[in-house]
Amino acid sequence: MRADILDVAKRRGFFWQTALLHGGMAGFYDYAHVGTMLKRKFQNTWREFFIGLDDNYYEIQPCQIMPDAVFRASGHIAHFTDPVVKCSKCKAVERADHIMEDVLKESFEGKSTEEMMAIIKKHNIKCGKCGGKLEEVGTFNLLFPMSVGAGQDAQVGYLAGETAQGAYVNFKLEFEALRRRLPLGLAVIGKAFRNEIAPRNVLIRMREFTQAELQIFFDPDTIKEHPDFRSVENMKLRLFPVSQRKKNTVLEVSCKDAVTKMKLPRFYVYHMAKIQEFYLGTMRLPPKAFRFRQLSDEEKAFYNKYHWDIELNLESVGGWKEVAGIHYRTDHDLKGHEKVSGQKQAVNVEGKVFIPHVLELSFGVDRNVYALLELAYTEEKERTVLKFPRRVSPYDAGIFPLVKKDGLAELARDVQKKLRDAGFIVFYDEGGSIGRRYRRIDEIGVALGITIDYDSKKNKDVTIRDRDTMDQVRVKIDKLPEAIMAFMLGENLNKLGVALN
Ligand code: GAP
Repeated sequence: MRADILDVAKRRGFFWQTALLHGGMAGFYDYAHVGTMLKRKFQNTWREFFIGLDDNYYEIQPCQIMPDAVFRASGHIAHFTDPVVKCSKCKAVERADHIMEDVLKESFEGKSTEEMMAIIKKHNIKCGKCGGKLEEVGTFNLLFPMSVGAGQDAQVGYLAGETAQGAYVNFKLEFEALRRRLPLGLAVIGKAFRNEIAPRNVLIRMREFTQAELQIFFDPDTIKEHPDFRSVENMKLRLFPVSQRKKNTVLEVSCKDAVTKMKLPRFYVYHMAKIQEFYLGTMRLPPKAFRFRQLSDEEKAFYNKYHWDIELNLESVGGWKEVAGIHYRTDHDLKGHEKVSGQKQAVNVEGKVFIPHVLELSFGVDRNVYALLELAYTEEKERTVLKFPRRVSPYDAGIFPLVKKDGLAELARDVQKKLRDAGFIVFYDEGGSIGRRYRRIDEIGVALGITIDYDSKKNKDVTIRDRDTMDQVRVKIDKLPEAIMAFMLGENLNKLGVALN
């Protein structure tokens, strides 16, 4: 972890450990006032992009506590486990694959408990805390169980380990309510809870976190097609297939070749292209920091047929980190719910009866927020600045009257109201020198600074300053909303007004 990033996160109000007042609790973090804005901007950008992919995609808000039948049906009660190992001396319980990774510097995800114990014995791996001997590798279920209700009405419930199940239990009702059309997309942005054995790296491995997931229900016979595939066929995906692991190189493969040479179905590849477009086009992250990583058969989640993770290169947490995944879950979940509930999940589309398959686009919101923070963090000679992609900057603009007197503060408040009415998130600051005020907004990543000075009263114009280049231009007040909108969509500042030297 980098202390400078954590320092900014705390000092400027992004996030900190929950209940610090009482000593905190590992794996739980609260978003503070600026972090909440950043997270909300990311979620809104995600929502707009992914739900906008099809007219038949919608957002729903299922509960996050559900009866045990849901998690028996999904397989989480039986399979949602991590391998653990206990120290015979200090009795500490640790994740077996992590302790092995720390010592041997390679990944052991997906190995069986027997294989792990054999490796621990072979390399004489000891307890990370006291050096004691490690006992048998066992498993630990990550779901948080709870007792719902009182007395004889009490029922076993679980906090959802993923938002996905909320979409699956609603599928049939939504399918009927939505005039029986496929593909049907149900998106959930909500909390997930996992009793992680070793929470680490602040927002990267938490026990309560936010996911943004889109479950796309479709006819499995159509997986080899997508009506809009032509629009992406020449786009180059940044792929890190299993075959490249030794060479450690990312391949640039066109969507067309991913279908013909790598044998991935078009429906799947189309959504990979859209995910890459989201990160590199909409969010404007550097391509070099982005890749799809193919999971081996041993590493794939228990429910997936095709499984590639989306990784970002985050130096502060040790390099490439998974921030999202694209999962072909087949009919695993709907079949499971049918079996446990006794309710048929098959649909009838124009006389054809089948259980839909699911393609899942699954994003960890907090990991993405952390990634945005790290990739934005820049130290320059005279300032620390967070160069967030413009559209996820926590605030769109900061407004500063040069001085409080002579009607400048009033004019600045008028401009603030005008911009708020136009839908922008605007921050007002009249304290300290202009230079100090710029430094403050630079450190929370506000995209634009707007200064109201004496000329503003005469000429009805303001100075706007680009956070990243520090260039400044003069813009008429009545043209400000459209200038800011153009800037947010990527326009160069110098095209928006008269440049100042
Ligand atoms: N519904 C599929 C699913 O939950 P997952 O790979 O377990 O798949 C999806 O999780 C995403 O959620 C991950 O790519 C990651 O970004 C995020 N995530 C998973 N566990 C997390 C944790 N303990 N803390 C923070 N984010 C986590």
